[in-house]
Amino acid sequence: VTETATVGILGGGQLGRMLALAGVPLGIRCLILEPAPGAPAAAAAQVLAAPYDDQAALEELARRCTVVTIEVEHVPVESLAWLAERLPVHPSPEVVAVGQDRLAEKRRLARLGVDTAPWAEPEQLERGFPAGTILKRRTGGFDGRGQVRLGPSASLADVAVARDALGAPAVAEGIVEFGRELSVIAARDPSGDVAVYPVVENRHADGILRETIAPAPRLTPELQAAAERLVVDVMDDLGHVGVLALELFDVDGRLLANELAPRVHNSGHWTIEGATTSQFEQHLRAVAGLPLGTGAARGPAAMVNVIGVEPDPAAVLAVPGAFLHRYGKEPRPQRKIGHVTVIGSDEAERDERLEVVRGVIRRASSP
Ligand SMILES: Nc1ncnc2c1ncn2[C@@H]1O[C@H](COP(=O)(O)OP(=O)(O)O)[C@@H](O)[C@H]1O
Ligand SMILES: [Mg+2]
Repeated sequence: VTETATVGILGGGQLGRMLALAGVPLGIRCLILEPAPGAPAAAAAQVLAAPYDDQAALEELARRCTVVTIEVEHVPVESLAWLAERLPVHPSPEVVAVGQDRLAEKRRLARLGVDTAPWAEPEQLERGFPAGTILKRRTGGFDGRGQVRLGPSASLADVAVARDALGAPAVAEGIVEFGRELSVIAARDPSGDVAVYPVVENRHADGILRETIAPAPRLTPELQAAAERLVVDVMDDLGHVGVLALELFDVDGRLLANELAPRVHNSGHWTIEGATTSQFEQHLRAVAGLPLGTGAARGPAAMVNVIGVEPDPAAVLAVPGAFLHRYGKEPRPQRKIGHVTVIGSDEAERDERLEVVRGVIRRASSP
């Protein structure tokens, strides 16, 4: 049987693993490039264990793949550019360059007229923002890492100290007193067709995503439409192909963009069991030029990240409507090593099950 496509993926973490798994029923094979040993994606795809700029590995990808994509934006743009001269690369190197640099991202959003938190280059600040300031590394940060928080109206000296502590170019942001955090995930195919998922609510602690509630509670058609407009504008502007996630702050119904990720996203994991087409399958469809599926939810769902410590698998699976995903990663504090999705026939049932799952995960962390 011939394959539909061979998709090369830069990055072999859990996102690469779930992409590769989603490819199997479609006859889409994935070939992964990942420098770190013990890649989670190795359970579902062949992994080339080499640096992202390894010439022989890039040549092998170019030779064997139909299209190349990413599961992490922190990859060398030069490698993608080299590949893009030889085969389709989605998202494009230019889009990845925007997604990996918070300053480039903010400039792009500003140009598009998308509202964000107030921001500035730290060198141009007179003092911190009135409600407090977050300095974020321009590149390489994730899960709240590479960020320093300063109190209200921090002095110029405080900003300078924080910037030096980061030890990398940074962008300064005003702290937003949001009511909640939301995200919207969508996909765009090479012909410009799009499919959008319902807006979800995300709960973070210590800068790390803990839970996603899908669809977001109290999601009105107006809110969905507003988020949809933003994410489609961003994708169209970038000429993006594939899945893209837009993280949002909800300030009394007004949406501010926090950051974008031109890839599958943790806040979309619920779509595996909770949506008509999972974000992983959707991304493969988009980059392989296949028709997109609908993003509609099958019903209420929630996703809880497993961080640092593995819960008892049997205790998770004993909860009706709970689905366990283990990433095969070495447990370490603050490290995402799995997730659990719960679905219910209505919100009350979902919430009841979610509460039990939270308890199981909590018990593992503090036995
Ligand atoms: N300007 C801000 N105001 C308030 N909270 C913020 C702001 N920026 C980030 N945060 C909080 O920190 C979390 C992580 O920051 P984010 O910029 O999304 O970086 P990461 O790439 O680590 O996800 C956000 O989800 C939010 O909870
Ligand atoms: Mg984020």
